[in-house]
Amino acid sequence: MGRDINVGIFGLGTVGCGVVKILQDNADVIRKRLGFGINIKKVFSHTSKCKNLLTNYTYTKDYKELFDERIDIVLELIGGIDVARRFVIEAIEHKKNIVSANKALLANYGVEIFSKAAKNGVKIGFEASVAGGVPIIKIITRDLMANNIKSIKAIVNGTCNYILSQMFETHESFETILNKAIKEGYAERDPSFDIDGIDSAQKMAILAAISFNAKIEEKDVYVEGIRDIDFIDIDFARQLGYRIKLLGIASMKNERLLVRVAPYFVEAENILAKVDGVYNAISVISDMTGQTTYVGKGAGSLPTASSVVADIIDIAKDFESGKVKDTLSKGVFEKTEFVDIDSLESHFYIRFSVIDSVGVLANIAYVLSKYDISIKSVVQTGKGLDVVPLLVLTHKAKESNIKKAILEIEQDHKSIIKNGTVLIRVLE
Ligand SMILES: NC(=O)c1ccc[n+]([C@@H]2O[C@H](COP(=O)([O-])OP(=O)(O)OC[C@H]3O[C@@H](n4cnc5c(N)ncnc54)[C@H](OP(=O)(O)O)[C@@H]3O)[C@@H](O)[C@H]2O)c1
Repeated sequence: MGRDINVGIFGLGTVGCGVVKILQDNADVIRKRLGFGINIKKVFSHTSKCKNLLTNYTYTKDYKELFDERIDIVLELIGGIDVARRFVIEAIEHKKNIVSANKALLANYGVEIFSKAAKNGVKIGFEASVAGGVPIIKIITRDLMANNIKSIKAIVNGTCNYILSQMFETHESFETILNKAIKEGYAERDPSFDIDGIDSAQKMAILAAISFNAKIEEKDVYVEGIRDIDFIDIDFARQLGYRIKLLGIASMKNERLLVRVAPYFVEAENILAKVDGVYNAISVISDMTGQTTYVGKGAGSLPTASSVVADIIDIAKDFESGKVKDTLSKGVFEKTEFVDIDSLESHFYIRFSVIDSVGVLANIAYVLSKYDISIKSVVQTGKGLDVVPLLVLTHKAKESNIKKAILEIEQDHKSIIKNGTVLIRVLE
């Protein structure tokens, strides 16, 4: 097209400042590769740590200036839902293409936003909303387009992965590591969004939507976080040849979708078990390509901004070819049936806390067998203590049966079972 692309930025925080830095520092390389440049025309933001990098002229006090006819693409980088949603809808009505890093917005209002974008002939770029610098959205929507995706298994929250990796390495408790993570800036002061699995659930809703053309929202994702993970389970996992990871899994069976986020035992040899620290990893299992796995930084100013700029470039290339073509905006999200987690069949790790006496295992085994649960292996440790852990790894069993069996064991055998029983799914 020859002419430069003009962008407007709404929100100049961590990601917005990263975008400014990339567009300024790498302006030459971007121009050389694209044949045209990308200019920041207008910025609207409450506050910013990188205001000094921009001219006063660029800064505006009226967000409506971002709808200026000279602006081709508007970046929504404020986060949150209400204001961001109103802004994005208004921008689409002004025929602006949008790039957003906002998983909360897209996981809850994606269907509305994409259908509005389709009606108005504009494109929504959202690469940065999942796994920061890992280009997983483009891989699924472009590179694996000729595949039927069977399932997605992913580590999409760097904070949780950091905490679980640190617990594994240091043998320290969840609270100790969480406090360290907050001090070192790897976790927010209020970490619940991350550690309760909500952030992962929003990202999995987006991944499931594009992988299965599914009409899915955050509320459709089953969620468990890592708050209750005890370091003794991390240690038992190690002894049994596993690692504990907070996984997001989306799978389609008989036209029905199940998307869940929960801690999993993952075999130490599995590629996902080897991804530590703040890194994200997404395994896509598809019919033609088989399993492919993508690993990288899931957050941070520059990796995330790199994905935002990649979306700008993608849209700019569409301008060049004469039209904006967004397959996602053409109403491909289909009404979706969901599977209840209770009907899931899985292998399980169960840790009972039991009185160390004769007959305990026989009682537990009896109740498990009543519910069609067969035991793969049993480990009892801590000989000599009053209360000892009894670990059971099961063969494949129905989740509802496992829950019923544990309830019955806890209720009918109060004299031998102490404290809460721990149940963690084992990844196949
Ligand atoms: N940070 C990451 O590593 C990362 C990674 C992936 C995706 N994301 C996503 O990227 C988006 C931006 O995240 P961020 O970390 O850059 O957030 P941030 O650092 O808090 O930046 C947001 C910026 O927008 C401004 N802002 C917020 N509400 C506004 C409003 N109503 N009007 C005008 N300005 C407003 C804020 O100013 P005030 O602070 O003064 O309100 C701040 O400058 C979020 O959707 C987030 O989920 C972030």
